Amino acid sequence: MSPMLAATETSTIVIRDIGGGAEMRAVEELQKEVWGLPDLDVVPLSHLVAAKVAGGTLLGAFDRETLVGFAYGFVSYEHGTVAHHSHMLAVKPAFRNFNLGHKLKLAQRERVLTQGITVMTWTFDPLQSLNAYFNFNKLGVVSDRYFINFYGEEAASFLHRNGTDRLWVTWLLTSAAIVDGRLNRTDPALEFERVIPLVQLGVDESPRRHGLAEALSHEQASIEIPSDINALERQSRELAFEWREATRWAFTEALAAGYLVVDFYRQSRGDQRLGIYLLSRGKRLADFV
Ligand SMILES: CC(C)(COP(=O)(O)OP(=O)(O)OC[C@H]1O[C@@H](n2cnc3c(N)ncnc32)[C@H](O)[C@@H]1OP(=O)(O)O)[C@@H](O)C(=O)NCCC(=O)NCCS
Repeated sequence: MSPMLAATETSTIVIRDIGGGAEMRAVEELQKEVWGLPDLDVVPLSHLVAAKVAGGTLLGAFDRETLVGFAYGFVSYEHGTVAHHSHMLAVKPAFRNFNLGHKLKLAQRERVLTQGITVMTWTFDPLQSLNAYFNFNKLGVVSDRYFINFYGEEAASFLHRNGTDRLWVTWLLTSAAIVDGRLNRTDPALEFERVIPLVQLGVDESPRRHGLAEALSHEQASIEIPSDINALERQSRELAFEWREATRWAFTEALAAGYLVVDFYRQSRGDQRLGIYLLSRGKRLADFV
């Protein structure tokens, strides 16, 4: 069956636990396909087995017998509480944008809740607008931590050539925002329109920084990113690195000033597409529970 044909039939795709042997090998292969990882950087079968038996999650999206996506996480301990750290989420390219990533996260949430755990964390590259939208807008995470080169400066994945800075996000599994669902919500008329962004997308696609005093003078703050950093990086690695430096500065300063990252919107400005992070001051993670 061709990938396109398969991808139109996602209603038949089943989300279930990944079993041993061949199915775990398929997880190794999918990591290589999605992230272009060399063998040494693949989370191997032996580790997946141990993490799963020790209370981790290893869920697959199966098109009949074929693994087309997976979510993998392990039990963690954060801020004095047992939590769940989701290390990997991947969907085969031909099967993306059919809500499978979302279904995998919801199934992972159910598994974790049955263990009495109510907090899930993971990391992602804040320059990736797809992941930002998926995490903040579709799932409803919040973030209070930014890591510079989390996995070191040299990245193993073909997806991550521009350093490995990461936002650490927290998904509060029993928070009203998540329980009530993110569906059908109306964007809050972009209350932050009057806010001067810490970093703004220029007409030439370059990052423009604004002064901290004015950008952090309201309860809300914002940080803009290009809609497709990967395309921009293919045109100019220097420009992509400018974006890394500018957003690193903006997130680091805002989080240090007591803001949390609470949402992300996809927007248009004239002919330009962009993404906008919304940050909010005066709230703690616990306020979202
Ligand atoms: C992230 C990933 C797992 C999502 O899987 P998926 O099955 O496509 O996810 P979904 O269909 O549930 O949701 C994708 C959403 O992103 C949106 N999206 C797609 N391209 C986008 C872009 N360039 N910018 C912003 N949003 C985008 C889609 O519109 C969709 O939202 P919608 O349902 O509201 O329309 C998949 O893209 C992937 O495997 N990426 C590579 C690995 C990776 O980044 N893993 C996650 C690390 S946190």
